[in-house]
Amino acid sequence: MNEKMWQGRFQKELDSRVNDFNSSISFDCRMYKEDILGSIAHATMLGKQNIISLEDSKLIVNELNNIMNDLENGNLQIDMQAEDIHMFIEAELTKRLGVVGKRLHTARSRNDQVAVDTKMYVKNQINEIKALLLDLIKTLIDLAENNLDTVMPGYTHMQRAQPITFAHHLMAYVEMFKRDLSRFNNAYELMDSMPLGSGALATTTYNIDREYTASLLGFSNVTLNSLDGVSDRDFCMETASDIAIAMVHLSRLSEEIILWCSWEFKFVELDDAYATGSSIMPQKKNPDITELVRGKTARTIGNLNTLLVMMKGLPLAYNKDMQEDKQAIFDSIDTIKICISTMIPMLATMKVNKQNMLNAGQKGFINATDCADYLVKKGLAFRDAYKITGSLVAKCIELNETLDSLPIEEYKKISEVFDVDVYNAISLNTCVKERKVIGGPSPEVVKKHIQIIKDTLLKDKKE
Ligand code: ARG
Repeated sequence: MNEKMWQGRFQKELDSRVNDFNSSISFDCRMYKEDILGSIAHATMLGKQNIISLEDSKLIVNELNNIMNDLENGNLQIDMQAEDIHMFIEAELTKRLGVVGKRLHTARSRNDQVAVDTKMYVKNQINEIKALLLDLIKTLIDLAENNLDTVMPGYTHMQRAQPITFAHHLMAYVEMFKRDLSRFNNAYELMDSMPLGSGALATTTYNIDREYTASLLGFSNVTLNSLDGVSDRDFCMETASDIAIAMVHLSRLSEEIILWCSWEFKFVELDDAYATGSSIMPQKKNPDITELVRGKTARTIGNLNTLLVMMKGLPLAYNKDMQEDKQAIFDSIDTIKICISTMIPMLATMKVNKQNMLNAGQKGFINATDCADYLVKKGLAFRDAYKITGSLVAKCIELNETLDSLPIEEYKKISEVFDVDVYNAISLNTCVKERKVIGGPSPEVVKKHIQIIKDTLLKDKKE
């Protein structure tokens, strides 16, 4: 077995079961880049501050770059027997440079090292998630632009409620993903302070220049308390929370697409490349992607829970429990990325059955509110108008008519106020077009909303 770097105090080798149990290399190996960049910045700072010689600093930086290249082009494999990625890189450096390599860990602990690596990794991943969210928003906007006039029923309690357009419905999701972007921006900003230099828990007596290292690593500032610096995992909890919330949004969209694909709705049809068949039922075309997104949302909520519960009882400062942060946050990151990446082309190729949406809108009395509003505009109080319209609906059900097809004589029997202009007032197109309030479904308003998103969120985005 490999000799441990901390072997000095010990008289026995670690039991191999403990070695495996303790090791995090199988999952923290993905942070090799962040670990090497963190070490390069640290070594550069040590040289600048004369804590190690400039010559040693340069040798270390140069060899760390070589290690990075070797890992990237497959000339060096990560040793899965190593304790973690930090130990592996340092051991490799020492293998190559001897005593010079052993100077890298001066004025540093794995506790501040793992904190800075993980923060850098999460920061980078937030940028990737944000780019995917923007692509998703762009896809929804394209779909909305093609469906500004596509009338469909809006629902409450899963009952047809009032007429909207498909564009209006899609733009609701754009707003959700817009808030998700803001949440990721906020999280990024809050985690943008560098913990390196916190040492094991109480900094160091060397004259390190933390602000310099931070500037090399692209952090805006440095953490101001070393105990907090090494034991803060808010950035993991917060990112996991932002991911879980965004996944809930993706899951709700998925749920709607699942419904819309059913024979009961037939509002949309997925492209063959984004649907799957059944092993026994030849007629089936299943929306598996959306079901998986809905299912995977559970994992991201679970990961958030893992992180919160993992942290809640920990005294300051570093505790090994915190090694468990990585699988949870990595899984959430991987999950949201694969979900958005798969949803985008699925949405972009989805066929919209405009006629079926309209047909659904024509049944279910979704213009009843507009019928009541018609009476109000003729001078009635809303409550009276509501009651009259209720009787009309009952009449329609009795005669198997809709409000649009019920003869004017029947209208007049219930209230003399009705005239033939009621038909125009309650036509679905009018109902949608006249809802011109900010936030409403009128094509004119939704178009403006789309323009706002284009001018703000998507302004740097190429077609
Ligand atoms: N693998 C550890 C982790 O992920 C690195 C920090 C270990 N520090 C220590 N004092 N054992 O948290």
